[in-house]
Amino acid sequence: MVEKTLAIIKPDAIKKKLTGKIIQRIEDEGFKISGLKMLHLNKEEAKGFYIIHKDKQFYESLTDFMSSGEIVTMVLEREDAISHWRQVMGATDPALAEPGTLRQMFGSSIERNAAHGSDSPTTAEWEINYFYKKE
Ligand code: CMP
Repeated sequence: MVEKTLAIIKPDAIKKKLTGKIIQRIEDEGFKISGLKMLHLNKEEAKGFYIIHKDKQFYESLTDFMSSGEIVTMVLEREDAISHWRQVMGATDPALAEPGTLRQMFGSSIERNAAHGSDSPTTAEWEINYFYKKE
């Protein structure tokens, strides 16, 4: 089934000038990019996006990091987009990610892990709406 997912290139990857490589990989994996924006979130916007993690001990640090520099958000479309993008990214912790995945190649810690992807159809809809709300 053709699905949509929300992908983010995080500030660590942007600072390392990996934006082009990650977008190339997305296209090579057969995704259609149907939305793309570079943004610099403020702290409140980062907190809003990660509200689901508000009770986690890493919430403050994660939202500081996600508001520390530019990010690129994208809407990706493909068969099984949600699970396929999660496979391409690899495990949340780069130390546990499979060789060849984006987080294994480009991430430096569980927080600075280069990329984000929605984890379910409900989350994908909510996350896409967060950045691409229809006027
Ligand atoms: P992401 O896929 O963007 O979703 C939530 C983020 O929280 C995750 O990637 C990590 O960058 C970050 N994070 C920081 N610490 C942890 C942790 N202990 N477990 C899971 N996610 C964490």
